Amino acid sequence: MSNSVEQIKQKLSIVDLVGGYVKLEKAGVNWKGRCPFHNEKTPSFFVSPGRETFHCFGCAKGGDIFTFTQEIEGLDFMGALKMLADRTGVTLERERKEERTEKEKLLAIMTDASLMFQATLGKNMSVLEYVHDRGLTDETIRHFEVGFAPDGWRVLHEFLLSRKHDEALIEKTGMIIRSPKGPFYDRFRGRVMFPIKDTVGNTIGFSGRVLGDELPKYMNSPETTLYQKSHVLFGIDKAKQAIRKSDCTILVEGQMDLVLSHQSGVTNAVAVSGTALTEDHLVSLKRLSENLVMAFDADAAGIKAAGRALAMALGLGMNVKVALLPPGMDPADVARANPSEWTRLIKEADHVIDFYLGVYRAQNLSGAELRKRIQEELMPFVGSLASSLDQGHYVKKVAEHLGVSESAVWESVRSVPKISRTRPDAGAPRKELPKEESRVKELLAKLLGALAMVSEKADSLINVAEIRREVDLLLGERAAALVEEVSAKIPEYALQAEVMYGENPKGIRELFPALAEGFLKDEFSVTMKKLRDAEAVGDTEQVKLLLAECQRITSQITQLKKERILRE
Ligand code: UTP
Ligand code: MN
Repeated sequence: MSNSVEQIKQKLSIVDLVGGYVKLEKAGVNWKGRCPFHNEKTPSFFVSPGRETFHCFGCAKGGDIFTFTQEIEGLDFMGALKMLADRTGVTLERERKEERTEKEKLLAIMTDASLMFQATLGKNMSVLEYVHDRGLTDETIRHFEVGFAPDGWRVLHEFLLSRKHDEALIEKTGMIIRSPKGPFYDRFRGRVMFPIKDTVGNTIGFSGRVLGDELPKYMNSPETTLYQKSHVLFGIDKAKQAIRKSDCTILVEGQMDLVLSHQSGVTNAVAVSGTALTEDHLVSLKRLSENLVMAFDADAAGIKAAGRALAMALGLGMNVKVALLPPGMDPADVARANPSEWTRLIKEADHVIDFYLGVYRAQNLSGAELRKRIQEELMPFVGSLASSLDQGHYVKKVAEHLGVSESAVWESVRSVPKISRTRPDAGAPRKELPKEESRVKELLAKLLGALAMVSEKADSLINVAEIRREVDLLLGERAAALVEEVSAKIPEYALQAEVMYGENPKGIRELFPALAEGFLKDEFSVTMKKLRDAEAVGDTEQVKLLLAECQRITSQITQLKKERILRE
């Protein structure tokens, strides 16, 4: 094995490998680029051809070609080894059968199941006819390994046993279900089967469609050790190269959308499958490209789903556009009827804000209803645009659309809470202290802003003076300095508090415990660090003091947690 590792390293330079994922430029003897593992504007990701290593000074990830492949493809070491062995043409010594890991055994079951489904489809003319009727060519059927699950209770089960697979493991794949009376039966019966694959093309689950109108229309594999829905995107194995190359991902909703999109030549498409879009999905897509085009139906449900997805993607700092589909059509319909129309819709995808304005126009909204929708749906997006040029552009558009002045729209942009950039560094390990520290400052500014807002109103629900005393007590000797530091931000936060808590000032009471927890956690890690330093130099007196300090902080945190549980 170590022999194979060396062989692979000799054949594949780290610059070539990483260069396939990240745009690299020369920096002295090294190369640098923007880190694919965290979100950054200026490059702090370095590749050293001499040492055959990479290192990111932003998120501290680093390693060799194998660690890089593990991280970026979401593989374990063996997976990365196999992938790079394939790529370099190095043959790994064939592992003996009994040494195969459980994961490999589960994958072997899925492969056999898929082969059986494919063979069944090939022999079943009426099902084949259905699939052809849906517009799939034979080549697409082969490419996506589309199959058919026989319409019996135990056909797959018996087939897999005849292939000497272990029954307990078959159950673990989710392909068979134990009935209350005892015997197993096949989960998928009489369905057209689409294998769901991981990024490297292993079949890890299935989605099966009925031939008629019975419900559920699609049945999906359950969560298993192989198949974790919140991570997997249908088609990612076939789309990832095209996504990198075109620097854009097309996101569609269903199996048919995806398959027909690829068939029509749009191969950078992926689909969510049998679950809602998650932040994990987006984080892995963002590694491939920052640009995302979502294709959604313009019906009410479609728009609602789009709103959530868009907010998440914008929150991660992705560039998002929306392809608006003709009424009553999904991407499958469009791609099938007219591939060049599908390409055009994607090319002409609108910025989120144009998309919403188009929807309002299509829905003939006007007057108070239009203003309400703009304020609630659209303004958060305008407010969260990273570029102020873009912001100006869209403020102008909205003003035109509403027939009001631009300054009125600016006013409303400012008053709306921005979409929070939930995890700007998603995927990157937790940063060191500075980030936490700034979080505490932000919490402090928020709280003081809210208190300033309340004082203007002389609201009796919130006792401003008492909360201020608690803040001073909490921050201790650092209070004055910290308050001074955030004071410039207070008016801004007062405005935000007006929007968020104007109606419901009670919410302000939650701000202090949040600040307290954040602050104490910081104090704790700072003290722990001092403690380690003191231990290192053998300063026993200092160690004793710091230990007591740690205990004091811990008990304060525990107390806060108790109070929180009581409040809830
Ligand atoms: P749709 O109901 O829009 O179906 O579901 P579709 O994609 O147009 O399917 P066809 O064209 O009638 O074959 C969109 C996606 O939602 C998931 C599937 O992934 C489907 O492709 N879904 C739908 C389920 O998981 N279960 C269901 O019962 C229905
Ligand atoms: Mn459809």
